[in-house]
Amino acid sequence: MHSHSSSVFNETLRLFPPVTGIPKESAEDTTLTTTDAQGNKTVVVVPKGVDITIDVPGLHYNPRYWEDPHSFKPSRFLGEWPRDAFLPFSAGARACLGRKFFETEGIAILTLLVSRYKIEIKEEPQFAGETFEEKKARILSAKPGITLT
Ligand code: HEM
Repeated sequence: MHSHSSSVFNETLRLFPPVTGIPKESAEDTTLTTTDAQGNKTVVVVPKGVDITIDVPGLHYNPRYWEDPHSFKPSRFLGEWPRDAFLPFSAGARACLGRKFFETEGIAILTLLVSRYKIEIKEEPQFAGETFEEKKARILSAKPGITLT
C-alpha cells in the first residue's frame, strides 16, 4: 500500500517537478563529460566559481533513463529505477532537508483528499468541444511564479 502511493507521488514529481532548476556554483576547476544520443562524448570545462543549473525536467524526461518519458506510469517506481536520474529534491549534501517530512505529509494529505472528495474537472461551456488530449494539455499547463495575497 505504502509503496504504491509513493510510486504515484514519485511519478508526479518526475513529470511535474516543483523545482525545475537547481542553481549551483562550481567549488573547484573541473570538467563535465556529456554523451549525446549517438554516444559521442563532449568534455565541458567548468572553472571554479562558474554558475551551473541542474535542469530537472531535462533529466526527468530523458528517454535514456525513462522509457516513454511523457507517460504517467507509477509502476516504473515499483522495482529498480534510476535514482540518479530522479532529482526533484536535488541530491548530495545540500539536498532537500524536508524530503522525508514531505514524503510522509504529502501522502497523508493526498490520501485524505481522495478518500473524502470526488475530484473532477469542472465542465465549462467554452471548453465543451475539447478533446481529451486538449483538456489534458490545458489542465496540466504550468507557468512559473507565485501568487501572493
Ligand atoms: C514537494 C516538496 C518539496 C520539493 C520538491 C523540495 C525541493 C527542494 C530542492 C530542489 C532543494 C534544493 C537542494 C539543492 O540546492 O541542491 C530543497 C532544499 C531545501 N528544502 Fe525542500 N522541497 C520540498 C519540500 C520541503 C519541505 C516540506 C521542507 C521543510 C519542512 C523543505 C526544506 C528544505 C530545506 C531546509 C532546504 C535547504 C537545504 C540545504 O540547503 O541544506 N523542503 N528542497
